[in-house]
Amino acid sequence: AIQRTFSIIKPDAVAKNLIGAIYSRFESAGLTILASKMIHMSQEQAEGFYAEHKGKPFFDGLVAFMTSGPVMVQVLEGENAVLANREIMGSTNPADAARGTIRADYATEVSENAVHGSDATESAAREIAYFFTDDEVCPRTR
Ligand code: CMP
Repeated sequence: AIQRTFSIIKPDAVAKNLIGAIYSRFESAGLTILASKMIHMSQEQAEGFYAEHKGKPFFDGLVAFMTSGPVMVQVLEGENAVLANREIMGSTNPADAARGTIRADYATEVSENAVHGSDATESAAREIAYFFTDDEVCPRTR
C-alpha cells in the first residue's frame, strides 16, 4: 500500500553537506518528497518529539544533539514507505547497518546517525503532524 513516513536529516549529516546525497537516496528508492523544510529545533520541540525516550540515559544527549544545528524534516511517500525508508537508512547503530545504507555510509555513532525515520504508520502520522501543517504537504498532481 502507498504510505507516508516522516524523515529527519540530523545535524551531523546537514553539517557534512549530505542533504542532496540523502535526498537522492530517497528518490532512487522510489520515495517521493511531499514536504520539506530546514529547521533548527528548540529544546522544547526536540524534547516533545522524543517524549517516548524521556528518562532514558541517552535522552539529554539526544536532545542536545538534535538542537546542535539545523536539520531537514520531510514527508516521504511511496509503496510501503515506512519500511522502505527504514531499509535504506539501515540499523539505528551504524556499526550494525548493512553495507550501502545511509547510516553505514554516512555515520559512525548510534548517537549521531545521520537520519531519523518513523517506525510505524501510526508514529509517522503523529510525527508528520508534529512538524507540518496540512497545507505544507503537497501531493503530486502529475
Ligand atoms: P532516532 O530514530 O532518531 O530515535 C531515537 C534516537 O536515539 C535514535 O535515533 C538514536 O540516534 C538515539 N540514540 C542515542 N543513543 C542511543 C542509544 N544508546 N541507544 C539507542 N538509541 C540511541
